[in-house]
Amino acid sequence: MCGIVGFTGAQQAAPVLLNGLQKLEYRGYDSAGIAVLDGSTITVRKTSGKISNLVEKTDGGKNCRGTTGIGHTRWATHGAPTDINAHPHISNNGKYAVVHNGIIENYLELREELIKKGFYFESETDTEVIVHLLEMYDDGDAKKAVLKTASKLRGSYALGVLCSDEPRTIYALRESSPLILGIGAGENYFASDVTAIVTYTKNAIYLEDGEFARITPDQVEVFDPSGHTVQKKISRISWDIQAAEKGGFEHFMLKEIFEQPRAVKSAIEPRIRDGNVVLDEFDVSARYLQGIKKIIITACGSAYYAGCASKYAIEHLCGIPVETELASEFRYSDPLVDKHTLVIVISQSGETADTIAALKEGRSRGAKVLAIVNVVGSTVAKMADWVLYTWAGPEIAVATTKGYTTQVAVLFLFALYTAKKLGRITDERYASLIRSLTSLPRRVQQALDMNPSIPALAKEYHSFKSLFFIGRNTDYAAALEGALKMKEISYIHAECYAAGELKHGTIALIEEHQPVVALCCNKDIADKTASNIVEVKARGAEIIAVAFRGDQRILSLADHVISIPKIETMFSPLVEIVPMQLLAYYFAKENGCDIDKPKNLAKSVTVE
Ligand code: G6P
Repeated sequence: MCGIVGFTGAQQAAPVLLNGLQKLEYRGYDSAGIAVLDGSTITVRKTSGKISNLVEKTDGGKNCRGTTGIGHTRWATHGAPTDINAHPHISNNGKYAVVHNGIIENYLELREELIKKGFYFESETDTEVIVHLLEMYDDGDAKKAVLKTASKLRGSYALGVLCSDEPRTIYALRESSPLILGIGAGENYFASDVTAIVTYTKNAIYLEDGEFARITPDQVEVFDPSGHTVQKKISRISWDIQAAEKGGFEHFMLKEIFEQPRAVKSAIEPRIRDGNVVLDEFDVSARYLQGIKKIIITACGSAYYAGCASKYAIEHLCGIPVETELASEFRYSDPLVDKHTLVIVISQSGETADTIAALKEGRSRGAKVLAIVNVVGSTVAKMADWVLYTWAGPEIAVATTKGYTTQVAVLFLFALYTAKKLGRITDERYASLIRSLTSLPRRVQQALDMNPSIPALAKEYHSFKSLFFIGRNTDYAAALEGALKMKEISYIHAECYAAGELKHGTIALIEEHQPVVALCCNKDIADKTASNIVEVKARGAEIIAVAFRGDQRILSLADHVISIPKIETMFSPLVEIVPMQLLAYYFAKENGCDIDKPKNLAKSVTVE
């Protein structure tokens, strides 16, 4: 969703801002803009559509001179994605410019109040109230105006502010929205995430909610909501520039698919020591775990499906019931949660609004929260009782791949760790599952290598208007994510059904040549899925099966087989999803889709 970036230093700001915005494109947006301060003049350039339009409009930044500035990519919420609604917004007297990520919940009442006082609104955005409040509270001290304005806002925001009275200065504020400061030599930055600034600096300050910063080329001061100075620690960003670049791949998504063996390895390997799962960050007592009567896994999108994919392993190994709940439902469901519930929240970005709300909901009812997160220092990571990082590295494509598989890997580690701590697993089984877990990165690599025919399959089937995905149990969980990938990037209607439910609905839609993707890697119920394949085949469907290599029965039933190496059933979703990601990728490619930035979707959904 929206992204913000700010710069002040000795070089021209516009090219730095445009570069930062390009790095933030992956978050999803539909318009963009920059404001640059030159002496006491603020120049604003903004436009709907792609950053390339903005680059053109500013002649690569050349017609927007000044060494201090702010930039924005907007994902429309209040008002259509037009030039006027694009940020930055400017105050009526031209003195303040603002960029904003988040939602101002009380904007209607503020807007009314400001209109009564004679302020003129140009846009339909909630953001514009901020810039007029700044003007209203301005008595010659920008810091005071910022402070007073922030005290009037309800909702979530990461803000960047320019004031023409303060030449070489930018303000950055944070409340429930991601924001970091980048510390350079004689130049400083702020941004929604590290990808925008990692080209320039690896030194960062993570702001807490309510804090704001006054940034000049030589100084970064951070204040609490009352305006008192806060001493902040400078952290080192571990992600490198290459990680946020395509590195020879046609799309970030393809690069990230192929990074999975390494990513899954980084999630698993450091946590297996001397034949044991060691979760330093989740160092709980057996007594605490014995008191857990239920686990609720809550998340959004693929992160939710990662929960579904691991539910079976957790229940089976730990003997604790697991409920999976969409965060957007959980938060309003008056859930039955108490101190005997462990809530697990999963989030690649750690900034998903519904997931944060679900975390708070679980907490308020007495549960402890374990978070599984990729982005270090993100809101979810900060709020949870324990955090297990997935160590996937930056994920740029909107549709998650390595984000998902590393989440599943960490959940498997959690399952094994908890089962052992509770004494619910024999030593032999534990040792064998540890071997299986450590083999997962290799298995993922094999699944990538084994399927050179996927591009040809996409050529054959890409023009179908709909696809069906079926599977049972662990296969069903993986199929849900497979269908989601297909929808997200190829725009083909992909419906996932538990194979046993086919007869209760979907089978009515099966016609001659209808492609059905059937997942058959769960050997315990393979016979049942095979019967479902026969049923749809009898009605004319063409079957693309995902099965263990050498599965003769599936080979004889299916029209096409995508193979994966043999793996412990409960861990199979992590491997079987990999060829399905490739399938979605090549379908999308055949359909000429914008694979890394699918329409209407955002990487990090920071609003409800
Ligand atoms: C968006 C992304 C998905 C992601 C979901 C949850 O929909 O496009 O890829 O799975 O948000 O995001 P999170 O950052 O919380 O994992």
